[in-house]
Amino acid sequence: MALVVNLKSLNLSEMMENKNLIDTIDKTKLPKHIAIIMDGNGRWAQQRGEQRVFGHNNGVQSVRETAEAAAELGIKFITLYAFSTENWNRPQDEVDALMQLLVVTINSEIKTLNDNNIRLRAIGNLKGLSPQVRAELEEAMGETAENTRMDLFLALNYSGRWEITDAMKKIAEQVKSGNLTLDQINEKLISESMNAPDLPDPELLIRTSGEYRTSNFLMWQTAYTELFFSPKLWPDFRKEDLYEAIIDFQHRERRFGKTSEQIINCKG
Ligand code: IPE
Ligand code: IPE
Ligand code: MG
Repeated sequence: MALVVNLKSLNLSEMMENKNLIDTIDKTKLPKHIAIIMDGNGRWAQQRGEQRVFGHNNGVQSVRETAEAAAELGIKFITLYAFSTENWNRPQDEVDALMQLLVVTINSEIKTLNDNNIRLRAIGNLKGLSPQVRAELEEAMGETAENTRMDLFLALNYSGRWEITDAMKKIAEQVKSGNLTLDQINEKLISESMNAPDLPDPELLIRTSGEYRTSNFLMWQTAYTELFFSPKLWPDFRKEDLYEAIIDFQHRERRFGKTSEQIINCKG
């Protein structure tokens, strides 16, 4: 009984803490797009004496919580790095388990996505995914296509260099066919030639698990993104961790090459 009471009060105090944290977020200065490198699943499992896939399975709850928290706050886009092109180099059984998890999770989350008015989308070389994964993805994207509160992008078989290469090919085709001149190639056109032309550059990129690199994620789009590195392993990542990253982001001065004085004067 005492244990039950303790657990209850723990949950309550956690909820209070969350409430306080969320209250310190400036709702008028939210990032439009948050990108997340969900890292540390394997270590999380290994710390528990389990197989790596146990960590991937437990990472799903973090995805749910993060998506829900972002939507509740009014974030318009989140992009989750779910499987990189480089991840094909992992042991085959882990790759298979990850693909199976994708199929099962995408299918089981359609209802929740719809209940929360979230639209599922994807970036990456989707043609390189198995027909089963693609079919499941297409179905979920179709069934959530009308949702308007937030776009949840999954980066699947994704690599930033691949995406830039792909964009270059699209542009080269247009030049070759005479529909585009060299003078018309500019940064705006390159941005619009990326996988999701309407996806704004992320203002904030979060990476979990204490690794300090971006691992070929959104290379073009993160040119001026604020980076937040969390020591938490992805399966431990919860709503308050997202709040913490956003609060940290809101305390930064985004100078875009200008001086601090210029930024302050502009505000004043
Ligand atoms: C991230 O966790 C998930 C994917 C890359 C699919 P990891 O599997 O990379 O976990 P660690 O980094 O080995 O702990
Ligand atoms: C990056 O994580 C890819 C995803 C989160 C899907 P990794 O764990 O694969 O990255 P590296 O290889 O350690 O940089
Ligand atoms: Mg990793």
